Amino acid sequence: MSATAGIRDHLEADGILHVVFDQPERPVNLLDGELLKRLSAILEQVRVEEQVKGVLFRSAKPENFLAGMDIDSLSGIDDAYRASEGARFGQTVFQKLADLSIPTACAIQGGCMGGGTELALACDIRLAGEHPTTLIGLPEVRIGIIPGFGGTQRLPRLVGFTKAVDMIVAGRRLNSRQALRAGLVDEIVLPGRLEARAVALLRQAADGGDRPRAGIRGRRSAGTRMLDWAAATVPPVRRWVLNEARRKLTVKADPMHYPAPYRALEALDAAVSLPLPQGLDIEARIIGELIPGETARNLMWLFRSQAAFRKPSGSAGGTSRKVAKAGVIGAGIMGGGIAALIADQDIPVRLKDLRFDPILTALRTAREGWNRKVRRGRLDPGQRDERMARIAPTVHTSGFTRCDLVVEAVVEDLEVKQQVLAELEPLMADRAVFASNTSSIPIGEIAAAAARPDRVVGLHFFNPVDRMPLVEVIAGPESSADAVATVRDFALRLGKLPIVVKDSPGFLVNRILMFYLGEAIRLLEEGVRIDAVDAAMTRFGMPLGPFALMDEIGLDTVLHVARVLQAAYGKRAEGSTRALESLILSERRGVRAGGGFYRYRRGKRTLPDPEAYSLSGAREPRDLPPETIQERLVLAMVNEAAVCLEDGVVERPVDLDIAMVTGTGFPPFRGGLLRYADSNGIAVTVDRLARLADAHGERFRPAGLLREMVMRQKLFYGDGK
Ligand code: NAI
Repeated sequence: MSATAGIRDHLEADGILHVVFDQPERPVNLLDGELLKRLSAILEQVRVEEQVKGVLFRSAKPENFLAGMDIDSLSGIDDAYRASEGARFGQTVFQKLADLSIPTACAIQGGCMGGGTELALACDIRLAGEHPTTLIGLPEVRIGIIPGFGGTQRLPRLVGFTKAVDMIVAGRRLNSRQALRAGLVDEIVLPGRLEARAVALLRQAADGGDRPRAGIRGRRSAGTRMLDWAAATVPPVRRWVLNEARRKLTVKADPMHYPAPYRALEALDAAVSLPLPQGLDIEARIIGELIPGETARNLMWLFRSQAAFRKPSGSAGGTSRKVAKAGVIGAGIMGGGIAALIADQDIPVRLKDLRFDPILTALRTAREGWNRKVRRGRLDPGQRDERMARIAPTVHTSGFTRCDLVVEAVVEDLEVKQQVLAELEPLMADRAVFASNTSSIPIGEIAAAAARPDRVVGLHFFNPVDRMPLVEVIAGPESSADAVATVRDFALRLGKLPIVVKDSPGFLVNRILMFYLGEAIRLLEEGVRIDAVDAAMTRFGMPLGPFALMDEIGLDTVLHVARVLQAAYGKRAEGSTRALESLILSERRGVRAGGGFYRYRRGKRTLPDPEAYSLSGAREPRDLPPETIQERLVLAMVNEAAVCLEDGVVERPVDLDIAMVTGTGFPPFRGGLLRYADSNGIAVTVDRLARLADAHGERFRPAGLLREMVMRQKLFYGDGK
């Protein structure tokens, strides 16, 4: 028996060698160069030792098999040759595994990603533990690369070309049932039986018996089998399949910004048209080109940084208290969504509103959401019903005494929020926390009249609650460290990414976003077309242009936040509420009202509303190059972001970048707003801002922090020397 590099192996009396991934110091098992070397040595020994009759790979963690390559070990690689060589080494090790003459098996339970899946693909037998955490996939494109240890070559050989294209290009992960249907695993086994079943199959295979083989014969329809066969043998059919995949991809990802899925198609093409060794060469060459690229570096950086935010608070910044029962006040768009999210995590939740109508709507919406999951096979009807039963609706204040945390999501009105708090406070247990979902009212003001302001915290979700990963956790001036830690860990439990921000008007994300939206309105007033502004920004990589976004948010809400910021930040945030006011007056309030800056047909955006120009007081139509539009809108955000750092709204540039990417969809391939500013150079940024200030007004005058950074030759991330 031996154990190094997070992997140990021992030979059982029956001749089965158990290779166990065991990294107790980490939440998931990861591959790195050391582990691959160790694995290579084990395989070398297996090849020559006659008493080994079969090899079983398993994990010491019940909820994780192998989460793939340690990204830290990839992010330092900055040349294509080294990156390709790294991939070739992994390919060689897995080829050694595939070439063994004795049977090999993988017992997969929990997450099995990237290199973990590639290891499984090189084995003879793959079993999946029936466990909700079991997910298998090759999600490399999500961090800007492709599978590099043979995944692009072996997956299509196992599950067929079309399924492999679907999985790799979308970075899709399959649960155990989906994996069985695809032929990616041979059997699903009850968790406690996984190891024994794998050993039994290995012994049977070692004795010359049959192996279970779903594999390529899997459960695909006759049509898919025919298409896979034709794609492998008839080049024009293959080209057609690849072109279709490319066509679908262009709707979602620009090849200039996100090259990886397009390059994955090249490797997949090789998988069905060339012998394995040549296909592997192509795979290694492509990943070598991708790893040092800007997109991959930014996406990997985001991935690693986000992982750091997902760590529980620990005791350093206060002791968090586990929430066993929660309450939500206000069953509107936000409150209803939050209650569903809480029920999703097995936590009983009391949902209160003034009337039953909104509660019924909230329950119906929650049920529809879970029904969608049932239809996709992600939930069974019993689980849906359990979740429904966890939400206890009420129009009274009873039942809140046992809640460890109450989320307030009533209308955005200070008086109403204070009233709700006053009503609830005497009922709440001593250590219970009150978290307000306000989007703009300072927590200090809500807590001003409270008997215990120390347990009032902000918990700002984004809309739609179930899809937006970010929440801002707002520490009010009197919030206790324990209350903040409790809310932060609660948000983590709900699957969200919490960022702690200072209590200030607009908090972080809405504040920066409003400077961007405000600048878009100024462009409109100057005569620039609505769709030209939106097109420039989607070309920059934003998921929606600013006008389409305002329509989605609702113009009343945008106006409300704009006024809050104007009151707080004076001249810098001044101007440009006129367009919003006149559109609202003419009943153009956004998508939900049937129209805003754009017209909508059956909820779908069509063309800008011609009236929006006159209502906004737009001058003569005027064309601006997309780059000029992008510069004005993005630099407005960069400048305000610098002021936010000066004001201590967040402590570090990384907090701000992660918040902007996850809260506004700021293009991930650019790494974040401040990383983008760094990539342009701070001196250039300051110079451009100064020119914009001269041409368009003081709001562009470069923030003190930026000027100081130029003097001291600093970047947001490191030295600019
Ligand atoms: P909404 O208008 O959809 O829902 C508010 C609900 O609160 C209504 O059902 C209303 O009947 C209920 N309510 C009012 N007074 C109450 C009281 N005294 N007791 C119990 N229930 C009461 O509003 P929405 O959009 O859900 O917003 C709620 C909060 O979330 C606001 O503070 C808003 O600023 C914030 N927010 C809203 C976002 C959005 O995009 N809608 C995004 C992030 C935060």
